[in-house]
Amino acid sequence: MTTYIPGAARLYGPEFAAGPQAVYAVLREQHGRVAPVEIAPGIHAHLVIDYRAALDVTTNAGEVWSKNPRPWQATLPDTAAARGLMGMIGWRPNCLFSDGQAQQRYRRVISDCFAMIPPYRMRALVTEYADRLIAEFAGTGRADLVGQYARLILLNLFNRLFGRPDTDSAALTTSLNGLMDATPEEGEAAAAAFGQYMSELLDSKYRRPGDDFTTWLLHHPAALDHNEALHELTLTVGAGNEPMVNLLTNTISRMLTNPRYYASLTDGALSVHDALQEVLREEPSMANYGPYFVTQPVEFHGAWIRPAELVLVSYAAANTTPAALPDGPRSDNGAHLGFGAGAHRCPAADPALLIAATSVERILTLLPGLRLAVPRSELVWRHGPFHRSLAELPVTFTPVRPDQPGETPWTSSSPSPSTPSAATSPANAPACAPPATS
Ligand code: HEM
Repeated sequence: MTTYIPGAARLYGPEFAAGPQAVYAVLREQHGRVAPVEIAPGIHAHLVIDYRAALDVTTNAGEVWSKNPRPWQATLPDTAAARGLMGMIGWRPNCLFSDGQAQQRYRRVISDCFAMIPPYRMRALVTEYADRLIAEFAGTGRADLVGQYARLILLNLFNRLFGRPDTDSAALTTSLNGLMDATPEEGEAAAAAFGQYMSELLDSKYRRPGDDFTTWLLHHPAALDHNEALHELTLTVGAGNEPMVNLLTNTISRMLTNPRYYASLTDGALSVHDALQEVLREEPSMANYGPYFVTQPVEFHGAWIRPAELVLVSYAAANTTPAALPDGPRSDNGAHLGFGAGAHRCPAADPALLIAATSVERILTLLPGLRLAVPRSELVWRHGPFHRSLAELPVTFTPVRPDQPGETPWTSSSPSPSTPSAATSPANAPACAPPATS
């Protein structure tokens, strides 16, 4: 039987970032379904690395399994490593860290607000922001699709959905992206700027309600108080941004390096949707971000787990459990845990897939001759236990320039079959224009 601490493998640092699946394979061999790991210097956890065991945890949330991290927090040392984890696993009044009725109340607010946005409007908005961002680098023939595209598109979109003018986008993107890999001083300044954005957002919507996500959230029958509303909105941005950035860039990098995604005369090519599903299964963005706790001591698939110990469901390892799922290419929406499972399964999975598919399609449609600027094996992955996340995604393509409205939006200096026709241009799709937000 494994215990909590001894023999723990490290889930941080360059070795894990370079090859997480190799680490999961060794852990499986040594420990079976649940393995002891170290997620930051001196901070340990049980990692659930088996598909069946992952379902046992996620589908029993709220009973033996709890999402309340406070008993665990109370045991942590006062170190920089422990403080650094609070952004991801520190308790807050939101659905991610609640159980039972409290979780359902918080969760319904987010699900209901997303349900207010018709898919055609979401798609039109994503297309608008995608095309704007692509126009900024399309003429140069090269780009970093992490920094110049993926890290901006969802935040620009959220700023608009929240009911703020585009001029406020920079405050959101700069502050949230400033938290990434920042020094403690930079991180503090970015957190303060993010806090200011959120509080100005709420103040503005208390004063002047509109037809937007923030107003729907404030007026939801769940009657959130100010603090709860702030945390639910923050969770929406926080839980949405990082996995979405990674889903987009992991998908694009996979499509550009796997011949199954190229058009083939005999077989046809797999689609963007296939690639998204494959990434969600084999390289999910929220790789190990399923924090759970037990409410009483349990023996769980060979591990002895006590209250106040952190259990992380590894969606990445669970999805790749040998023999858990059929091998080979799949275009059948095959089962995976890329969006989690059970009571805490991602409440925004459908809009997230729509946003991701549209964002990837715009890149593939508008940039002819797109290819990685370096071999996939040379891409650099960010260090850290929770996400499967590229530091950069450098690409090259045939330079194209935006044309005047009403014409084709892009003119390639050397025409390519993937240069879009006029029929795909946003200027030719006024019926999809979103209704104005306040
Ligand atoms: C529009 C973008 C997104 C939003 C607003 C969003 C929001 C959320 C929220 C609020 C939760 C907590 C639900 C609960 O505890 O009841 C959640 C959970 C989750 N989301 Fe999303 N999400 C988004 C995109 C994504 C994407 C792109 C992925 C993966 C590629 C993802 C994977 C997950 C997973 C795995 C969980 C479960 C976490 C756990 O087990 O604790 N989400 N999401």
